[in-house]
Amino acid sequence: MRVSEIRDLIRVKPVELDATRRRLSACHDIDDLRAAGRRLIPRPVFDYVDGGADQEVSLRANTRAFRQFRFQPRTLVDVSEPDTTTAFLGSVTPLPLALAPTGYTRMMHPAGEIAAARAARRHGLPYTLSTMATTTIEDVAGAAGGGDLWFQLYILRDSGLNKELVDRAAAAKYRVLVVTVDCFVTGHRTRDRRNGLVIPPELTAQTLASIAGKPGYWIRMLRNPGIDFANFAGHEAVTIEGTGALFNPAISWDDIAELRARWPGRLIVKGPLGPADAARAVSAGADGVQLSNHGGRQLDRAVPPVHTIATVRDMVGPDVAVLVDSGVRHGADLAVALALGADACAIGRAYLYGLMAGGEAGVNKALDILAAQFKRTMQLLGVRSVAELRELGSSLLVKG
Ligand SMILES: Cc1cc2nc3c(=O)[nH]c(=O)nc-3n(C[C@H](O)[C@H](O)[C@H](O)COP(=O)(O)O)c2cc1C
Repeated sequence: MRVSEIRDLIRVKPVELDATRRRLSACHDIDDLRAAGRRLIPRPVFDYVDGGADQEVSLRANTRAFRQFRFQPRTLVDVSEPDTTTAFLGSVTPLPLALAPTGYTRMMHPAGEIAAARAARRHGLPYTLSTMATTTIEDVAGAAGGGDLWFQLYILRDSGLNKELVDRAAAAKYRVLVVTVDCFVTGHRTRDRRNGLVIPPELTAQTLASIAGKPGYWIRMLRNPGIDFANFAGHEAVTIEGTGALFNPAISWDDIAELRARWPGRLIVKGPLGPADAARAVSAGADGVQLSNHGGRQLDRAVPPVHTIATVRDMVGPDVAVLVDSGVRHGADLAVALALGADACAIGRAYLYGLMAGGEAGVNKALDILAAQFKRTMQLLGVRSVAELRELGSSLLVKG
């Protein structure tokens, strides 16, 4: 057989010359993006994203909790045009998803917060900027303006700084204030301790070894401005070990009520893990709650938030927004959360794995994957719209 004859039989796949596109085209789920990120990023940085607190019991339990539910689908329903759009906290989104706040994001990739915010805007999803961001409130608004931007506040000891951050976010047209209440004392991140992670990176024998192992990462980093807590400019320099000292361990529900009075937009409390605290958040004036154990990074052995959705919904009623994060790695997780009574999910690591694997294109890829998975799950479940998914609710689920 001649080569020309073989060519007629086999379609030749064009060679992708762009390394990032080539890498991302080989990623078919969030685990693939995680593996790609792991290959590219120095171990201490990857572990900072991937790791959890103490023995990582909650970290493992979070993903397992979503997967413990089994679907009981309906069949022979016309699912040719499933409607995945939904509305929560005043935004209409093409799927029930928001991007959760993550600190130090430029350490994963120099495009950092702006890449994540742009990818979120492209997908019509909210992006939450962290207090511990490495890009300023104003720069993110400038680069991703027109998107649905939320601002996350850690209540700091310096009450003047709290007010300043909230006022800046309001002035820059952030729409929702997310007040995190599970991080008044920082969790013990065992991997970070073992790796000796410090921010900004220090030149140690370990760093030099890492430069040799992942030169691409370091070249990118050295070509870009240094990493700092962009929103504390003019305040004392802060290192990762020093951040704990910034947080106020004496915060109370009165602080939420005070922020409520100051903030002009919607406000949600991130971190309640059950009906009692969800009800307190609503009494303090919150428009919603984000059930979260901080992705297993704070109180280890804290209950997986997905297990608290149903009782929280019963407690707060239908009009309070209930978001859930911690453990979302697949579009099917969104279906589980909504069937249990949530309005939407939020993701942290799922988009950070994309960011590490390929910058903004990687975050886009993560969101594309989750959107396609959610749509396919709805179709295979025999559900035609998000409203129907919520109506059918727990009748679609069996605890496995
Ligand atoms: C690297 C990293 C940094 C984070 N930084 C913050 C932060 O600054 N503020 C905050 O409220 N939550 C922070 N979180 C928690 C996330 O907002 C979210 O609750 C968590 O990632 C959800 O779990 P998942 O990663 O399994 O999706 C961080 C999470 C990660 C992984």
